[in-house]
Amino acid sequence: MQCSWKLVILLGLASIAIQYTAIRTLTSKAFQLCQLPSPQNCSLGAQETDTPGGCDDYPYFSVNATRKTHILLLATTRSGSSFVGQLLNQHQEVFYLFEPLYHVQNTLMPCLSHSRPPADRRVMLGASRDLLRSLFDCDLYFLESYMKPMPTNHTTDKLFRRGASRALCQQPVCDAFSPADINVEEGDCVKKCGALNTTLATEACREKRFVAIKVVRVAEIGDLRALVEDPRLNIKVIQLVRDPRGIMSSRIETFRDIYRLWRIWRATGRRPYNLDLTPLTVLCKDFFSSVSTGLSHPYWLKGKYMLVRYEDMAKKPLQKTKEIFDFLGLSVDKNVEDWIQANTQGSNEPSVKHKYGTLRDSAATAESWRLSLSYDMVEYTQTVCHKVLQQLGYKAARSEGELKNMSLTLVQDKTFVPFL
Ligand SMILES: *[C@@H]1O[C@H](CO)[C@@H](O)[C@H](O)[C@H]1NC(C)=O
Ligand SMILES: *[C@@H]1O[C@H](CO)[C@@H](O)[C@H](O)[C@H]1NC(C)=O
Ligand SMILES: *[C@@H]1O[C@H](CO)[C@@H](O)[C@H](O)[C@H]1NC(C)=O
Ligand SMILES: *[C@@H]1O[C@H](CO)[C@@H](O)[C@H](O)[C@H]1NC(C)=O
Ligand SMILES: *[C@@H]1O[C@H](CO)[C@@H](O)[C@H](O)[C@H]1NC(C)=O
Repeated sequence: MQCSWKLVILLGLASIAIQYTAIRTLTSKAFQLCQLPSPQNCSLGAQETDTPGGCDDYPYFSVNATRKTHILLLATTRSGSSFVGQLLNQHQEVFYLFEPLYHVQNTLMPCLSHSRPPADRRVMLGASRDLLRSLFDCDLYFLESYMKPMPTNHTTDKLFRRGASRALCQQPVCDAFSPADINVEEGDCVKKCGALNTTLATEACREKRFVAIKVVRVAEIGDLRALVEDPRLNIKVIQLVRDPRGIMSSRIETFRDIYRLWRIWRATGRRPYNLDLTPLTVLCKDFFSSVSTGLSHPYWLKGKYMLVRYEDMAKKPLQKTKEIFDFLGLSVDKNVEDWIQANTQGSNEPSVKHKYGTLRDSAATAESWRLSLSYDMVEYTQTVCHKVLQQLGYKAARSEGELKNMSLTLVQDKTFVPFL
């Protein structure tokens, strides 16, 4: 066991700051494998960690960081975030990263599995905020400390979904493709580009006016308040939501092992007695709480928050993209327009077959869950999730006939304007 009882006891301590700082100090001395990294460069160092000699002692931040816009795409798994992320990714002026918090989870999970969930959550959040801050400042070296094995000479082939970032698959980071090559497939990028030189990646990031990061591992927008309020950043949050019935349907399809019993439920219309309903209850509880925070328009989100329903995006991709880009201060350039054209028209040849692929006939997909979930399942979900369904304008299906009749939409017209 690399993470000993000392760590477990520490996790029991009350305050976030004490806990986080203490863990850092302790782990850096005694537990190599569970070391929490600290930013190598104190450009946008961790504000709320008052480690002696930490970044607060060096209030430097890079000149360019202030002129950038930092886009946080906040979503949950299977809520259509790859699709929206790709829209940002296509833009010439955007440096996009696909879920870098994967590395935080991967590194910290083995350390945390013996302790209590609320404490785990706080440690993860502290580390996540640190990492996001550094990445928004283009410090990709900091991310290296979360990779296993840790890269040598600043090159790595372990960056999660590297191929999903255009900027990491083209010159100057990768010579195999030029910025003019659109629709470079993820697999091709990984195959042809070789190991990633993080120094070059950092340089590429610094050149761009926008840094966009997709995050699906933070449940509550309120947990990122310290990041949003950081005066050194210029954050805009896009909170992407989707009908929880659609999310569940998509997860059942995608994560086949975890959701095996759910598929039995779906196929038979009868809920297996030993089915664990936690994934659903947690999804809707977190969702409701996070969306409530966002829509209550707290002052710290003023000018920085926009809620987007995936279904609206799917129905009117170009119009919705324009609204989002307007809010972000981006123009819809030709790349983006071409990408939308190519990927939302139900083209006969889907060009990406990746498990997490984004390319599909968007409008038809948004409500297709209605044809695959059983009514029993839908009814149950509607009960558990009724608050968030109502909040976001998703109608309940009152009968099997209503559920399966696709000429009736379950998505109410509802406008969510940016919080300006
Ligand atoms: C930190 O950033 C400064 C300014 O860009 C640079 O001069 C310095 O070399 C960096 N240090 C590290 C360790 O990356
Ligand atoms: C890292 O760079 C040094 C100096 O160029 C070299 O000696 C070493 O072999 C490199 N390590 C790896 C793993 O490539
Ligand atoms: C990575 O790129 C930097 C900047 O161009 C270069 O100096 C360095 O040698 C490269 N590293 C490797 C391992 O190629
Ligand atoms: C700042 O950004 C410009 C382009 O916008 C780039 O040419 C320059 O190298 C960047 N400076 C630093 C210190 O990263
Ligand atoms: C589906 O809904 C439409 C619109 O309300 C209705 O006209 C139609 O009869 C329904 N179809 C079936 C098979 O119930």
